[in-house]
Amino acid sequence: PKRVRIHHLQQWKDAGERWPMLTAYDFPTAKVFDAAGIPVLLVGDSAANNVLGYDSTVPVSVDELLMLCKAVVRGASRSLIVADLPFGSYQVSPGQALETAVRFMKEGGAAAVKLEGGAHYAPQIRALVDAGIPVMAHLGFTPQSEHALGGFRVQGRGAGADKLLSDALAVQEAGAFATVLEMVPADVAKKVTGELRIPTVGIGAGPDCDAQVLVWPDMAGLNTGRVPRFVKRYADLAGALGGAAEQFSREVREGVYPAEEHSFR
Ligand code: KIV
Ligand code: NA
Repeated sequence: PKRVRIHHLQQWKDAGERWPMLTAYDFPTAKVFDAAGIPVLLVGDSAANNVLGYDSTVPVSVDELLMLCKAVVRGASRSLIVADLPFGSYQVSPGQALETAVRFMKEGGAAAVKLEGGAHYAPQIRALVDAGIPVMAHLGFTPQSEHALGGFRVQGRGAGADKLLSDALAVQEAGAFATVLEMVPADVAKKVTGELRIPTVGIGAGPDCDAQVLVWPDMAGLNTGRVPRFVKRYADLAGALGGAAEQFSREVREGVYPAEEHSFR
């Protein structure tokens, strides 16, 4: 099957076809999601929590995410790979953003990058787009700003709705090919989606976005910690994997494994 490109995402919006996106952080999951037909994989900085054990996305480095990005790229033959720019790697200036994004494209093999922020980051988005780097924006609740936003809270309520719409229009105007809308009221996300020409990718943003994204260890039940209420669990991987480890452990202790067929003569 042919490689998904950013113009396909625009075609799907124009045709009213919804599409799914998942995070991926390594080779085996990228292969599985690619084969499952997930058109867009995000090497999210949520790897900070979900792979590296940090308690927020703030500490993860460019080098840490680059290594994961390369592995995902090796695993995917059809999916479009979007790499998150981590906190501190683009906020300083458009030049800094371009240097970081170039690394994700050139060393990481990504097809696009994502950064958090609205109108204030339009110069960064413009600099990347002018250099030939497709940019996905991320509005609403932006985890890298957790401390400024006062924790995990719904954004875009009340007067915040106008700000969200103007940020969305600003990132579109700056050249972003899509924007994530995270934890915003469903009616606000619906309005933004209707006003924008480019696709919106919702997470905790109701059913009317053009696309939906979830953090894969949340949706597959590998994350055993607290998950946000917008997450739907499609599997119990922690249960399945824990069960496999317990059975292996039991069988080794009892001398059941390895059996005849696992042994060389
Ligand atoms: O890092 C991430 O997983 C994300 C998605 C939630 C959009 O940015
Ligand atoms: Na992210």
